[in-house]
Amino acid sequence: MIRSVVLGTGAYLPARIMTNADFEGLVDTNQQWIVERTGIERRHIAADGELTSDLAVKAGQEAIAEADIAPDSIDLVILATTTPDDTMPSTATKVQHRLGITKGAAFDINAACSGFVYAMSVANSFILSGQAKRVLVIGAETYSRILDWTDRTTCILFGDGAAAIVLEAQEGDRGVLFSGIHSDGQYTGLLATNGGISSTMTAGKMFMAGKEIFRHAVSKMPAAVEEGMAAIGLPLSAIDWLVPHQANMRILRGVAQKLHIGEEKVIATVAHHANTSAASIPLALHVASRDGRIKAGHLIACPALGAGLTWGCTIVRW
Ligand code: UT7
Repeated sequence: MIRSVVLGTGAYLPARIMTNADFEGLVDTNQQWIVERTGIERRHIAADGELTSDLAVKAGQEAIAEADIAPDSIDLVILATTTPDDTMPSTATKVQHRLGITKGAAFDINAACSGFVYAMSVANSFILSGQAKRVLVIGAETYSRILDWTDRTTCILFGDGAAAIVLEAQEGDRGVLFSGIHSDGQYTGLLATNGGISSTMTAGKMFMAGKEIFRHAVSKMPAAVEEGMAAIGLPLSAIDWLVPHQANMRILRGVAQKLHIGEEKVIATVAHHANTSAASIPLALHVASRDGRIKAGHLIACPALGAGLTWGCTIVRW
């Protein structure tokens, strides 16, 4: 059976680090509140003039190098982002060109914090249908550009970053075993920007009903994992690593508890990256595969939830 197998990962974080203490002069907050209520200690912020495409290209280059393939053997680039460089063209086409990929297609996907799970679902469908053999999936974001830096309930939560994964069609047991995505547009008002291209002709700034999003996250993410494990016919105890979207340490713990998964099996990078939206899961996968925790053959469940609402889960045999 053909599956989408992970050949390599890469990541890039902007050089500038912003600590919790750096917010104390900006908004009415403090280090202790941020750590206790979110688990976040610091985040990376893109430099002036450093764009989502710049982050994506660096992550893509590293993933292609680790996969040890020629860039031009990639026949599809999918970039998950809510913060594209420009309204058009898609940021994916710029990234495709800068990576030296000349064939196939490239496009962006906007599913906010579920972007990576959505992109994996599309990539997997292209591979299973025989339309692509090698796909570069990237999550890249510069949320610092759409934050309201006067709103203490949101500006402390997000960071910039990018991560990438190369998938290849291969026969065997490894690879993407399940990819489920969902959305429910009745909740658009819970997490959104206050403007956009067609409505205000600006990008808008982000706002969020944090408590309600929290409640949706700790119910829908575990349900998405259960749906996936039931579909592949394995018990929850077969999961080696839970790698959820990294929004808040309390959400990660809540998801793991509902699934009866011990904290030692949860990959958490939220303390150092904060919420990087579509980049958060691939960043966590990259960190944990590089430091040796994630090994070939491990079963990994990656649930996400984001604006839309959108949610879903990718399950991969690494
Ligand atoms: O995955 C998609 C994205 N989702 C998310 O990133 C996050 C989902 N939500 C959350 O992570 C949490 O709901 C928050 C971190 C946003 C908020 O945590 P909470 O425990 O739900 O706090 P709260 O909203 O109930 O606020 C408690 C208090 C409030 O003060 P009062 O009304 O009790 O006087 C807030 O105004 O904490 C206050 N507060 C702050 N205080 C210091 C809110 N933000 C801050 C802050 N610093 N940055």
